[in-house]
Order: sequence, then C-alpha cells, then structure tokens
Amino acid sequence: MAGERPSASGRADPRTVEESWSSVAAGYREYWCPRLRPYLERAVELLRPLPHGPIAVPGCGPGEEVLLLAAKHPGRAIVATDPARGMLELLWAELRSRGLWHVLAAPGVAQDLSGSVLQAAAVLSCFTLQLLEDPRVALADWATCLRRGAAVTALFWPRPAPETPHGRLQAVIQRRTAEARPDWEPGALEALPSLGLRLVHDERVARTMEHASPEEYFERLVQAGPLQALLRRRGTGVIAQCRSDWLEDHGLVRKGGRWAHAPEARLWVLEATGEAHRPH
Ligand SMILES: C[S@@+](CC[C@H](N)C(=O)[O-])C[C@H]1O[C@@H](n2cnc3c(N)ncnc32)[C@H](O)[C@@H]1O
Repeated sequence: MAGERPSASGRADPRTVEESWSSVAAGYREYWCPRLRPYLERAVELLRPLPHGPIAVPGCGPGEEVLLLAAKHPGRAIVATDPARGMLELLWAELRSRGLWHVLAAPGVAQDLSGSVLQAAAVLSCFTLQLLEDPRVALADWATCLRRGAAVTALFWPRPAPETPHGRLQAVIQRRTAEARPDWEPGALEALPSLGLRLVHDERVARTMEHASPEEYFERLVQAGPLQALLRRRGTGVIAQCRSDWLEDHGLVRKGGRWAHAPEARLWVLEATGEAHRPH
C-alpha cells in the first residue's frame, strides 16, 4: 500500500509517525479520548508543578490532558508538542474556542521537547513513551527541560501480561511480523540516575473500558489508533492476519451486550536531580 516503509526496529520512521497519527486524529479523539480520560485524570491529579515555569506536555495528541491541566491550573503557561499536525489542529481549535491563549501547542517530536521548552515546572507525558524508538532518549531530554526539583509525570502502556487482550494482541503481532515489543522499562529504570532523574512514584492504573464488539476494538486500533502505523508499514494483508488470529482468542470479557477489559497503564513520577547526562 502507498506509504509503506518497513523499519528494522519495528518502529515507524518520522514521516510515517506524522502521517499515521494525523490521519487518525479525529477518530482517536472521538473513540479513545473518552476511554482514556480516567487514566489522564489520575496523571493530572498526581502532577505537582513547581510554582514557577511552564508545564510541558510532549506527545499531546488532541490535547485531552492539556485541557485537564488548563482547568486545574488556570492561567498557568503550558507548552504542548506533537509531531502530528492533524492532532495539533484539533487542539488549536479547542484552545481558540475556550480562549486559552496562554496555552501554546507546537509541532515537535517527544524526544526533542527541549527544543520547545526549558526551565519547566513539570513535564506530563501520556501514552507516548511506549511508542518511541528509545524511551531513555526522551527521558534524558525531558530531564534537561526541568527546573531542579521539578518532575516528569509519565503515563504509559507497560509490557502487557500475556493473558490480557493487549498481551494477546502483542503476541499475534510478534508472530505475524517478527517485530517484538522492546522490554525497555527495566533498562530505563536502571538508567534514571545517569539521566538525572529519580523515581519517586510508581503506580499501576487500571480502568474498565468497553467496546461494542471485539471487531470494533480491533478496527478502532487500526483506523483511530496505534495500529495505523503498523498498517502503513506492513500493509493490509498482515493486518488482516493479525485481526483474524486475535479474534480467535482475544481475551475481552462479555459484559451485558458489550465487551470489556481493564487495561493496566503504568504511571511514573520522576524527579529531576540536576545531574543529567545524555545517553550515547
Ligand atoms: C497515543 S497518542 C497519545 C495522545 C495524548 N497524549 C493522549 O494521552 O490521549 C500518542 C501521541 O504521541 C505522538 N508522538 C510524539 N512523538 C512521537 C514519536 N516519536 N513516535 C510516535 N508518536 C509520537 C503522536 O503523534 C500521538 O499524538
């Protein structure tokens, strides 16, 4: 299919990232944002910005967490970035309609947040870290954005347990593409001192999410979510194989007339020690 660009690492190249997230932006906001909102609310609840400096939000997407932050910290400078113009356009429209002129949203990749903001009072990253080629590079960059004593609050999808719907989907994708999800969390935790960060909070956040059917869940992952990049890299044949394998044994649970699960996210609060070194 047009735009297919395979990558040895199993991660999409920057153009595919931009195109795929732009193309799903409206669907992502419509389908996934309401389902992810309870997770974002927990992350915003934990975020404690220093009194001075902006709050930085890499990988903001359509900006649900940006709007939650703006409501909780009225008048506070917020700098949000995302590489996908389609996502930013949704956020810009929302900021205009709410008159949030002190919130800036600009193009930028998550791992180069320091190109947009320094001396931040806090960094909030939601559901982006697990998408990156090397999350440690982004964490190192975010450490350099912070004032000393400020913290990164990072909400992300960890390696899923094998029996969960996410875990079963990962296994199917790995079988059909030979792309393994990197097990980056232990290495990132080990590297924190050298990145100038210290783990001060580590929490699992699970919230129930419902879908009309397993088919709808899969379809929304492809047409409105992270599997769009896989579709563009690998094509419709591979996606169809993954779909039929996963539907045979998906792990979603019937609840009334709907299908439910409670995917577990991970929430880290990482305080800046002021001793950052960038990894090579
Ligand atoms: C799953 S969405 C999360 C959006 C929003 N933070 C939320 O929680 O709803 C991931 C976002 O990260 C962005 N992103 C930033 N840098 C990226 C990168 N290097 N690779 C992949 N996605 C990236 C995508 O454009 C997308 O908008």
